[in-house]
Amino acid sequence: MDLTTTYLGLSLRNPLVAAPSPLQQTPGGVLTLVDAGVGAVVLHSLFEEQVRRDLDPDFERDHWFSNPAGPGAPDRYLDLIEQAASSVDVPVIASLNGTGSGEWTAFAGRAQDAGAAAVELNFYVVPGQFRGHGEAVEDAVLDLLSAVRDVVTVPVAVKLPPYFSSLNDLAVRLVEKGADGLVLFNRFLQPHIDVGERTVQPEIELSSRSDARLPQTWIAVLREQVECSLAGTGGVETADDVAAYLLAGADVVQCASVFLRHGRDHARVLLDGLEAWGDAQGFASVADARGLLAVPWRVPSEDYQRDGYVSALQIARRTYWWK
Ligand SMILES: Cc1cc2nc3c(=O)[nH]c(=O)nc-3n(C[C@H](O)[C@H](O)[C@H](O)COP(=O)(O)O)c2cc1C
Repeated sequence: MDLTTTYLGLSLRNPLVAAPSPLQQTPGGVLTLVDAGVGAVVLHSLFEEQVRRDLDPDFERDHWFSNPAGPGAPDRYLDLIEQAASSVDVPVIASLNGTGSGEWTAFAGRAQDAGAAAVELNFYVVPGQFRGHGEAVEDAVLDLLSAVRDVVTVPVAVKLPPYFSSLNDLAVRLVEKGADGLVLFNRFLQPHIDVGERTVQPEIELSSRSDARLPQTWIAVLREQVECSLAGTGGVETADDVAAYLLAGADVVQCASVFLRHGRDHARVLLDGLEAWGDAQGFASVADARGLLAVPWRVPSEDYQRDGYVSALQIARRTYWWK
């Protein structure tokens, strides 16, 4: 199977993309991922607060922000983009993590000038004390996208959390506002509660395969409803998991945990496995496989989902009736 594909209008040699993680914090880390075969690299995220901290030295005093990377993080990030982009022949995508528009979004233009082939906006908001309509949160991501769209000409993707009441509608509005792609989904930090010490530890767990179910489902739902690139991220451990994302309708699959667990070279194992799967299935190209299992256009997806839900529960009842 020919693995070449297109993502955000960029030509990629294959649909396996390195998702933001600590593995690409250095140009050497990026180079090793590319040598192992990935089709593109999304750098780790630079945070809105880090940019704002450098624009306003009083920021840390006025906000609860400890800035673990220290001052100068934005300039170091630009250096990384520049060095990585000039040393590899696949797209290097900058990742900006923020919750709102404002002066800081001008940084996206600097990322483009440094050589970023695209910008991925990692919209990460936990409105814990927020008392208002959900639409206000949706408007925040739309405003963020507009602000970045105004300062870049490269493609822009938006990485979203799954916790919206009407994700389809938000997806359509983001595409109307100029999103070239959606990345489903980012992960909220879900801290570990140590019951012995009675402390809350901020901790990122590597994913497991079942984490792929939610993004795969949403990609299957959205594939026929939005005209933009879709990237799946979460729960890839084997080449079959990558293939499942493609069948659901993803254009690319972004992986982090599998590389953190098995090393960057594991990209080659996934790609060889993907190619072998495609050959065995008789697919000539990635496009032949993409979206074969997406929810078909014109099928009311609510009915489709409820039908699946009812069937799944019936199967469970038959399976566990004797318990
Ligand atoms: C250690 C670690 C660091 C991460 N850092 C970022 C980040 O900086 N920006 C971002 O958008 N996602 C980040 N992620 C999320 C990953 O990019 C990815 O979307 C998510 O982990 C799901 O993919 P996976 O199951 O292959 O890990 C991070 C994930 C891990 C495990």
